[in-house]
Amino acid sequence: MQYTSKILMRKWRDFWLSKDHKEIKGASLIPADNSVLFTTAGMQPLIPYLMGQPHPLGKRLFDIQPCLRTNDIDEVGDNRHHTMFFMLGNWSIGDYFKKEAISWSWEYLTDSKWLGIDPARLAVTVFEGDENVPRDTVSADLWEKCGIPKERIYFCPKADNWWEIGGGVGPCGPDTEIFYDTGKPACSDTCGPQCDCGKWVEIWNNVFMEFNVAKAGAPLEKLPQQNVDTGMGLERIECVLNGYDSTFRDDCFKRPIEILESLSGKKFDFANEFGKYFCIISDHIRASVFLLGDLQPTTPSNVGQGYILRRLIRRAVNCARKLGFDARDLIKVADAYVQYYKEDFENFVKVEKFILDEITAEIEKFEKAIEGGIKEFNRIAEGLKSGDTIDGKTAFRLFDTFGFPLDLTVDLASERGINVDKAAFDEAFAAHQQKSRDNSGAMFKGGVAEAHSEEEEKILRRLHSATHLMLAALRRVVGNTVEQRGSNITPERLRYDFTCDHKLTPEELKTVENMVNEQIARDLPIICEEMTVDEAKASGAIGIFDSKYGDKVKVYTMGDFSKEICGGPHAEHTGELGHFRILKEESSSSGVRRIKAVLE
Ligand code: ALA
Repeated sequence: MQYTSKILMRKWRDFWLSKDHKEIKGASLIPADNSVLFTTAGMQPLIPYLMGQPHPLGKRLFDIQPCLRTNDIDEVGDNRHHTMFFMLGNWSIGDYFKKEAISWSWEYLTDSKWLGIDPARLAVTVFEGDENVPRDTVSADLWEKCGIPKERIYFCPKADNWWEIGGGVGPCGPDTEIFYDTGKPACSDTCGPQCDCGKWVEIWNNVFMEFNVAKAGAPLEKLPQQNVDTGMGLERIECVLNGYDSTFRDDCFKRPIEILESLSGKKFDFANEFGKYFCIISDHIRASVFLLGDLQPTTPSNVGQGYILRRLIRRAVNCARKLGFDARDLIKVADAYVQYYKEDFENFVKVEKFILDEITAEIEKFEKAIEGGIKEFNRIAEGLKSGDTIDGKTAFRLFDTFGFPLDLTVDLASERGINVDKAAFDEAFAAHQQKSRDNSGAMFKGGVAEAHSEEEEKILRRLHSATHLMLAALRRVVGNTVEQRGSNITPERLRYDFTCDHKLTPEELKTVENMVNEQIARDLPIICEEMTVDEAKASGAIGIFDSKYGDKVKVYTMGDFSKEICGGPHAEHTGELGHFRILKEESSSSGVRRIKAVLE
């Protein structure tokens, strides 16, 4: 039988409903608590409940959660990495524990009513224990009772069989992972589930989440309840069940890949140099469709989630060029995804046009930038002859000013027999990054990165103005003891350190966020006045009154809300700032907290 993602989603639902679980629906790719940019695991929206809060739907839950992992962005292009993927998850929120979790996993995987996998193809790993948590012989015994022979139960260290959220703070625990034998020959006598040779594929992870780490460096503590948190990658399970050589053979990618084959006139095959471009486009356009079609849509921009979306679309455009077709046709691939998923994701029906229009607009924008780059390239190339070399600085300028990928410069150059000094490009790139870092701090107290274009300059100004609104809001919420300790602004986000004797509560953060957004909505003019330090003090301005500002200082005023001594530059009106969102609050040093936030 051929398994499709739709069949597998239905089976997943039917199975957990038959075990008295309730489905959690409609979770967004954008986490509600702003702790990270994207939902990276099904458990993320459940953290408060894993910590002890009662869930409105009860103690047994399951879902089908779109997740996005940006750390894998550069891995996409092999036979199994994705940025966006679906995680099938089930949870016990202080209800059942190892016994039920393991026997249901076994039933779901092997019973012919469900996936019907041959048990001889399965192996498991369990936690070997360490100084804090004992060896998980309970899980090993349970697996043996299910029918897994001892030699296919592997005890592994924390690096393999412990699950925690990136960063290590929050609910966590030992896990047991289930692996599928693809049937490839073993690479060596020691080949086993932990080996990367491709014989074994991890298909499901059961985490026994009964611990917590309250803050960075804090010791493990027991949670008030024992939870189960599981995650099965839909793309992977579909791939192994069908015996495919890659997740990109899965059903949802079929039509998009056919479209790419017909647009490029090339056959999708990993063995050739083009295989990876098929994968990158298929992955990135799908992720883009889901970011735009989300209930909390992301649109392309230069900050936060919008920046990732921009990168995904632009990388797809570069790959379209590599495959030799007009990148505007990528919209056909996007449309194929919308049609495929709209039955299961109702929102797609409502926002279908929006999704496609946004992708088209971003492709156009990037294409225009590239056209500008090509003109510039031709100008540069006119002065060169075959055998000459374009130096690293020039290649870097094309990249920096026009978003021109190095590959493209190399391709265009090779058509004319010209070389490109790639090593010097890398050096120029590294030097540029260093310069940005050094500049942070030189321009302003605390630092705003150097702007590389007019657009970036505007973004930096807006983020800088946002720090003033945020400081004013923090002083209203926490008290006048809050003072700036450091600021670092890049086009992606602001990072701000300030004095505060406690971790801000979610309510405090929300209030700060709301206050800033209220001031943005008031569209206050941002006024700069020069005055003496004494006048500034008398006016009630906050800021650092030391002599380094000289006799006269600049005071920036935003309505009745903020008045601060500062060197600028700032936006002209608060209305330009867009929507302010706090991504993270954490400790910076003793008595100093740090907030990362974005404008979107
Ligand atoms: N939270 C676990 C994972 O992502 C299930 O693997």
